[in-house]
Amino acid sequence: MTSKLLLRFTSYLIAGAVSLFNFQASESQTLPSLKDTFKNNFLIGAAINTQQFQGKDTAANRVIAQQFNAVTPENIMKAEIIHPKWDVYQFDLADELVAYAKKNNLKINAHTLIWHSQLPAFMQHMQDPDSVKKYFANHINTIASRYDGKVYSWDVVNEALNEDGTLRNTIFLQKLGGNYIVDAFRLAQAAAPQTKLYYNDYNIEQPKKRAGAIAIIKSIQSAGVRIDGVGIQGHWRADNVPLNDIEESIKEFSALGIEVMFTELDLGVLKNPWDNNTADVNAKAEANANMNPYTAGLPDSVQKVQSKAYEDLFRLFLKYDKSVSRVTFWGVNDGQSWLNNWPIRGRTNYPLLFDRHFQPKDSFYRVIATKGK
Ligand code: XIL
Repeated sequence: MTSKLLLRFTSYLIAGAVSLFNFQASESQTLPSLKDTFKNNFLIGAAINTQQFQGKDTAANRVIAQQFNAVTPENIMKAEIIHPKWDVYQFDLADELVAYAKKNNLKINAHTLIWHSQLPAFMQHMQDPDSVKKYFANHINTIASRYDGKVYSWDVVNEALNEDGTLRNTIFLQKLGGNYIVDAFRLAQAAAPQTKLYYNDYNIEQPKKRAGAIAIIKSIQSAGVRIDGVGIQGHWRADNVPLNDIEESIKEFSALGIEVMFTELDLGVLKNPWDNNTADVNAKAEANANMNPYTAGLPDSVQKVQSKAYEDLFRLFLKYDKSVSRVTFWGVNDGQSWLNNWPIRGRTNYPLLFDRHFQPKDSFYRVIATKGK
């Protein structure tokens, strides 16, 4: 008798589990996917972290496999991680990323070869120009050649410009002179002949900085060196997306004969303390409750502003889909976004299309719906 009851109880449990499984399966089957929706328009990417490409974040892994066809490593191909000492390279994580991307049919945009931020300690204060020159050539040759044919593209140089369009005063400019960007692309072209080569920066949709980016691109082209595209990062505020400047930029950059990409898209809903549009990873400010108003949830009114902004942006991307080759979000879900900790630590931001429970937000559906209109 007891065993019969037990049997019946167990079969109820199994039936329950099966229907729960079916519910989840059918829910994910009916959810439209970004990569399929825009498959004739542009690639759809996400920045991913170590947990994710190691397959340890199963909820994120499900979303990545279902929604995206491109990935950018959020940190692990930056110099401080992949090249921590003069002659030490750590390839393990990047190799795991390559395996994960292969298994899941994802194109990798490798990020990034030459950037003044997240440099290893040994490099930051290097005085001797010859040593910087050696570091520069070794770094590019070693890493770009190892991943040639394994990654789809490289952000060869990241964030080389000031807001006024002049070259940023980085260690590379100081020690190597203004031609270092052309040199970086020349080295990358030789080391990675099968990999697309891009220049990437934030705010280059703004007229002055855009002019600086155009000057960089033209200098590479007129040196007879290959550049395949330009990445506009796209760390904008949901209530302040510069649509006209973005449209102008797509036109001007594509007129140079290169791909245009939106490479780090997120539309934050929180102010930064300076009320400007910087995306400088070194900018920091103190925590302050007034600057963190939505810890209990995102008000509908703010969600609406974001949905509309995403919709407007994707309409624009579609209008120029001959020129725009990829749109990459900087993260998979709101809880994992860098904007929860930058430029102020410990805030609750909501910049992406999936919420903290990996559920699609209204912004997701509005992006999908731009295809029908
Ligand atoms: C950010 C990462 O998301 C953070 O995890 C890290 O602490 C700092 O860098 N522009 C870039 C990206 O090109 O590499 C930055 O990524 C965000 C701004």
